[in-house]
Amino acid sequence: MPAPPQPVATTLTHSAIFLVVTLKPGPQCRDTVTGLCSDMSSLLRAIGFRHPLRRLSCVMGFGSEAWDQLFGHPRPAHLHPFREIKGVHHAPSTPGDLLFHIRATHMDLCFELAAQIMSRIGDVATVVDEVHGFKYFDERDLLGFVDGTENPAEQAAVDATIVGHEDAAFAGGSYVVVQKYLHDLTAWNAVPVEQQEKIIGRHKLSDVELREEEKPPYAHNVLTNIEENGEQLQIVRDNMPFGEIGKGEFGTYFIGYACSPARIETMLDNMFIGNPPGNYDRILDFSKAVTGSLYFVPSATFLDNPPSYTAGATS
Ligand code: HEM
Repeated sequence: MPAPPQPVATTLTHSAIFLVVTLKPGPQCRDTVTGLCSDMSSLLRAIGFRHPLRRLSCVMGFGSEAWDQLFGHPRPAHLHPFREIKGVHHAPSTPGDLLFHIRATHMDLCFELAAQIMSRIGDVATVVDEVHGFKYFDERDLLGFVDGTENPAEQAAVDATIVGHEDAAFAGGSYVVVQKYLHDLTAWNAVPVEQQEKIIGRHKLSDVELREEEKPPYAHNVLTNIEENGEQLQIVRDNMPFGEIGKGEFGTYFIGYACSPARIETMLDNMFIGNPPGNYDRILDFSKAVTGSLYFVPSATFLDNPPSYTAGATS
């Protein structure tokens, strides 16, 4: 039987905390982090049971260097650091050893789990990015468009996100990319709605997709719609708005899961460099990517019983 995945393709919730941490070197770090891995399901039960209807879940991902430090060999076939993109716009690659994607219908559960996680690993880990995301009216992002409509659901979501026999040792795993985007809402709100709709490829109020002949080649849903052998290559997204009014900060936290990072990377190339080059995503004229990192999300079975460190074969 295939190993059960972490709750990657779960239904979207109204609150989330995205916690990106870096690790200190050394063996103490290994013991502390693997200790947390095996306790994670029990922590989730203890906190989630206080409000079962609030659907607390957590996905834990490992960056490429952290994998080498914690587990050594073997390693997931496609795990590598996030690749910076220097196109018409810039997608930076920023530090991140562990990602915790904590979701629930209410923030209280997310907050409690995040605090418990850090109380376990705080001595060996530093939080380098923490975003508290919320759902905005009608599932909209802060640009005012409904975000998430074309996500695959049920079996299609599993097929899009979960590693299968192509990497048998890591079947049940997944890959995840996160990027924090900051919007220039003053500039965006000055763009006529009809032009905004062309940039996204959907109508703003109704969320209905523009007809193919109405979409410009740079529409977001043209550049992120990619195919292989006539089949659409999908990913599962759970973007969240976030912000701080006092700082004038308005953002979208992008999170995309896939069974291979390649499909997310192709979408990013199309957006930042353009397809063909120069035909880039106009969302980026108003939204700046300020972080970018990539993680492998091992199966739930792996997390419950993390293997001890194994050095790679020497040649
Ligand atoms: C500022 C950042 C972003 C914003 C505000 C944003 C917003 C949206 C919106 C409003 C939609 C249309 C509704 C929907 O189907 O969800 C959409 C679709 C989509 N986005 Fe994004 N997005 C962002 C970044 C990204 C990135 C970085 C990727 C991939 C690397 C991506 C991949 C997709 C995909 C695959 C779709 C569905 C396209 C389709 O098949 O129709 N998005 N996004």
